[in-house]
Amino acid sequence: MSIEYRNDHLFVEDLSCQDLAKKYGTPLYVYSRAHLERQWQAIDQALAAIDHKICYAVKANSNLAVLSVLVKLGSYFDVVSIGEIERVLRAGGRADRIVFSGVGKTTAELNAALKLGIHCFNVESAAELERLAAIAATLGLIAPVSVRVNPDVDAKTHPYISTGLKDNKFGIIWDEIESVYQQAAQHESLKIVGIDCHIGSQLTEVSPFNDAIDKLLEVIGRLSKQGISFQHIDLGGGFGVTYRDEPTFDLQGYADAVVEKIGPLGLSVMVEPGRYIAANAGLMLVEVQYLKHSEHKNFCIVDGSMSELIRPALYSAWQRIDAVELSSDTPSDVYDVVGPVCESSDFLGKDRTLAVKQGDILAVQSSGAYGFGMASNYNTRCRPAELLIDGDKVHVARRRESLDDVLALEAPL
Ligand code: LLP
Repeated sequence: MSIEYRNDHLFVEDLSCQDLAKKYGTPLYVYSRAHLERQWQAIDQALAAIDHKICYAVKANSNLAVLSVLVKLGSYFDVVSIGEIERVLRAGGRADRIVFSGVGKTTAELNAALKLGIHCFNVESAAELERLAAIAATLGLIAPVSVRVNPDVDAKTHPYISTGLKDNKFGIIWDEIESVYQQAAQHESLKIVGIDCHIGSQLTEVSPFNDAIDKLLEVIGRLSKQGISFQHIDLGGGFGVTYRDEPTFDLQGYADAVVEKIGPLGLSVMVEPGRYIAANAGLMLVEVQYLKHSEHKNFCIVDGSMSELIRPALYSAWQRIDAVELSSDTPSDVYDVVGPVCESSDFLGKDRTLAVKQGDILAVQSSGAYGFGMASNYNTRCRPAELLIDGDKVHVARRRESLDDVLALEAPL
């Protein structure tokens, strides 16, 4: 394991969290390179029996250092903005290894991505298809397209991160898929290369994926009768991780089903995992500022907040919180672990049993995905530094923001 206790001290690879917090300050994001690599390679190996591409979902953790680790593994990337494309390129990635998802791609974004020659546009509406065709025609280019199917399957996950139901804004509804593909086939500036879906995030069961694949296969069958064929099928991301006691996602079971169902068609498979690669590769270190005891409730007030890690506040997400130094001398108590932000939703964890005192360092575990990337400057807080650990080496992947950084773009009257 890359993040584990050794003699009651929490380590990320070969470095103690206590020492890192002391040297780099808190709140602090710390990532393990080995964990990122191991997770990516696990997916690669699971899918070894079929031609496949792993397109890391950049939104999960878009730090340049994290991206460059994955570039070195030969990863493809799933992006949702021109900003994310720029990140992949600056991390040393290639444009022709990028797939572009998202319901709201602007003219400027489509234009730039076309000129760069990205691998595929995952188109999410008939209107986007028309816009893309027109821009490609003007540029004298041919846009490689895949249409995102909304398969109307229940991912059985949190409603905010469920994306494959017909009530969701994502993809093209079932009844319209064929007509959108026929529309795409009419345009000389478009080349149909694939079909895709993404049904949601943090799926703990394989069965919704199977349902989605079956639906995609049904549509592929119907389209092939109309002379429309594909090179790839992109199944999206969503593989769940263990935050608390969720069952380990059956990656091999998933991969076996993919191989069995898609193998006979001779299509290349693409997947877009984000969380599975990054979530448990990272943690956020915070320092206990005050303990506030009362008969009714105890609060452990730390220097990290919903500004730095919004998942608990936004999705009631549960992430493990541990003292980085375990001590039998400190009495334990039940606390709500809260930050300094002026909102009652500003909590990192509720009802946690902790043996802590003022000045102790706590680790909010599983913070490598959708942690820093969703951080804000709310309450004029400077975003934390990010470290990438490789054995006993520290790479400062992002330095801590200063107040000058935060205020640089504003102008008093
Ligand atoms: N592909 C597409 C088109 C997506 O929209 C997403 C995530 C992914 C791939 C990657 O999904 P993953 O493998 O990471 O589950 N902020 C939320 C998660 C939002 C996910 C949005 N889309 C959270 O903190 O739980």
